[in-house]
Amino acid sequence: MKVSPALSLLVAAALRANAGDLGKAAADSLIPVADLGEVPPGSKLGLRVAGTRILLVNAGGGIHAFEDRCRHRDVPLCDGKLEGAVLTCPAHEWRYDTDTGCAIERPGVRLRSFPVRIEAARILVDIGGSR
Ligand code: FES
Repeated sequence: MKVSPALSLLVAAALRANAGDLGKAAADSLIPVADLGEVPPGSKLGLRVAGTRILLVNAGGGIHAFEDRCRHRDVPLCDGKLEGAVLTCPAHEWRYDTDTGCAIERPGVRLRSFPVRIEAARILVDIGGSR
């Protein structure tokens, strides 16, 4: 998993900025986690943000953020294979639809996902807004 020191500092600063103002709107809980150029179409990037493993996926025409943990046995999906909009776990090959986070062969199983916004070529994720 790749986490740059500069990115860690940026995330820490964003968290400090948000920590003292709990009354802000939900938009203020978005944290910049990566540059758009770090996740080109057809790629993925694993990060740790506020103690949570996040997987950014650029597939299906958009950026998606999921918890970087397979729903089978918690293996990081950042080491898996991305083909189109299908992400395959490296351990036992459970497959997930990156548009929905749903396990393809297992109805009702879905990755935890987070709201994403792109601003000025930065990827922002709402860690507190998981679904
Ligand atoms: S841990 Fe992912 S399929 Fe088993």
